[in-house]
Amino acid sequence: MEIIKVKNYKEMSRVASEIVVGEMLKKGDIVIGFATGATPLGLYRNLVKAYKKGEVDFSKVKSFNLDEYYPMKGGDKNSYRRYMFRNLFGRVNIKRGNVNLLDGEARDFGKECLDYEKAIKKSPIDLQILGVGANGHIGFNEPGSLKSSRTRLVDLSDDTVKRNSGIFWKAPRKALTMGIGTILSSKKIILLASGKAKARAIGRLMKGKVGADCPVSFLRKHKNLLFISC
Ligand code: F6R
Repeated sequence: MEIIKVKNYKEMSRVASEIVVGEMLKKGDIVIGFATGATPLGLYRNLVKAYKKGEVDFSKVKSFNLDEYYPMKGGDKNSYRRYMFRNLFGRVNIKRGNVNLLDGEARDFGKECLDYEKAIKKSPIDLQILGVGANGHIGFNEPGSLKSSRTRLVDLSDDTVKRNSGIFWKAPRKALTMGIGTILSSKKIILLASGKAKARAIGRLMKGKVGADCPVSFLRKHKNLLFISC
């Protein structure tokens, strides 16, 4: 694991975007796994700026998002689809056909998850961007998720539902998420974490038992993990 400790959120977003831009310049048709939430917003703002300055080109980039609430209408203002188009995809020249998002409206969620796994197998993720939940979740792999887990429908923990209850009129209790096994199969992972709320989870990433009770701990064994924190 490589660790970069920075002084604040702005620095974390700057360092992360420089690294992502560097990877994009090395491989124009890079496959990037994107996270949502508050943590990567600064990174996405910087990527949009870099694109506007002509420093990066998204025309050959392929993307896979980590997760989506279920059920969730794509057009809902709280869907992760809307988040991605609002904060990144709608502001750069990524091709719609190269964007892969789990469909919160899929009737057959089992098929949706299998198809997603197949698509990732065909276009393996070069660079996965991750945040972490206060309870150690990555994607929506809540405590109890297995290292071998793949894309599937999951129950959100009470903790996650509670944290979301301020955003939603009725907070979703389920989600579709890449599994831990899916995430670990990415060639490179950039994990971002800021703030005291994440300290306990980060403690378990760094030391102690690697185990399902704190999913982020599974990342410790990844061959190419860059952890940027403030
Ligand atoms: C988002 C995701 C989640 C978040 C985590 C942290 O796609 O998969 O695991 O990364 O909940 O969220 P923030 O960044 O809002 O603290």
